[in-house]
Amino acid sequence: EATTNLYFTTAADIQHLLKSRPKFSHKGLYGHALLLCGGFGKMGAAVLAARACMRAGVGLLTVHAPAIGYAILQNSVPEAMALSDKHKNHIANLPSDIEKYNVIGVGPGMGTERVTKTAIGQLLATCKQPLVLDADAINIIAGSEKLKNQLRNHEVILTPHPKEFERLIGKSKNDYDRLQDMLEFCREYSCYIVLKGSQTAIGTPEGNLYFNTTGNAGMATGGTGDVLTGIITALVAQKYTLEEACILGVYLHGLAADLALPDVGKVSMIASDLIDYLPKAFLQVA
Ligand code: APR
Ligand code: MG
Repeated sequence: EATTNLYFTTAADIQHLLKSRPKFSHKGLYGHALLLCGGFGKMGAAVLAARACMRAGVGLLTVHAPAIGYAILQNSVPEAMALSDKHKNHIANLPSDIEKYNVIGVGPGMGTERVTKTAIGQLLATCKQPLVLDADAINIIAGSEKLKNQLRNHEVILTPHPKEFERLIGKSKNDYDRLQDMLEFCREYSCYIVLKGSQTAIGTPEGNLYFNTTGNAGMATGGTGDVLTGIITALVAQKYTLEEACILGVYLHGLAADLALPDVGKVSMIASDLIDYLPKAFLQVA
């Protein structure tokens, strides 16, 4: 039986974790992230993840999306480079020089088409860098024992919402058991899990369990999960450990929503607001 170490993330923890930027900085120090996301009718997810990734301090960002997403990305995220998949509507292939990226964030708006499943299979069979897997990337892996087993060969963070968690790990008896099942999975597959919800919990392969202390019900709106994927991917690119990237990312994501609250309220809050308030979140904990 593994022991569990339980933590509640505080502002002081975050202050301690955040790295400052030295004067003689250049973008090479902050990593080159790759995002594989977007699909027909869901390019918004890719745009949100990309914009959040930029605001979370990544050095360089490339977004690989289906052909229909190319102009959308270039227009909405001029800071990011865009690559066009050979497939019009879905991700079906991987970028040719994939080794050059420090981290790969995968999933938002991607869909679960057969061609995309094949691309995810290729990714898990070949890539060496840390992976941040969300949304349909999790759904695809959940549907294949072979892919699930390949998680062990990677440094990987999974960011499921409760439904995606259930597809990946199965139904748990109750909330307490669900956390035990999460830690069991983290240990078995040597991965990090961010179980998202009104009370987000982070599990690590060593049996650490972190409860986040920021965030509010205004976040219960489409696209906020995609923003988190971008943030965590940016933090891994900046050489935070996977554990640190999960803790920091979830905290800052919730803090951005808390800072937006007085201006936009819970009802009107949308995912883009989290990106707009992310700078204030970083400033508050710096
Ligand atoms: N309090 C605090 N945080 C909340 C609350 C709440 N009441 N409700 C939601 N959140 C946070 C979660 O912790 C998570 O970080 O908002 C985010 C929601 O993320 P997702 O559930 O992944 O939702 P999102 O991705 O935006 O939804 C769009 O993408 O994952 C796919 O198919 C899925 O339909 C979904 C789509
Ligand atoms: Mg989601």
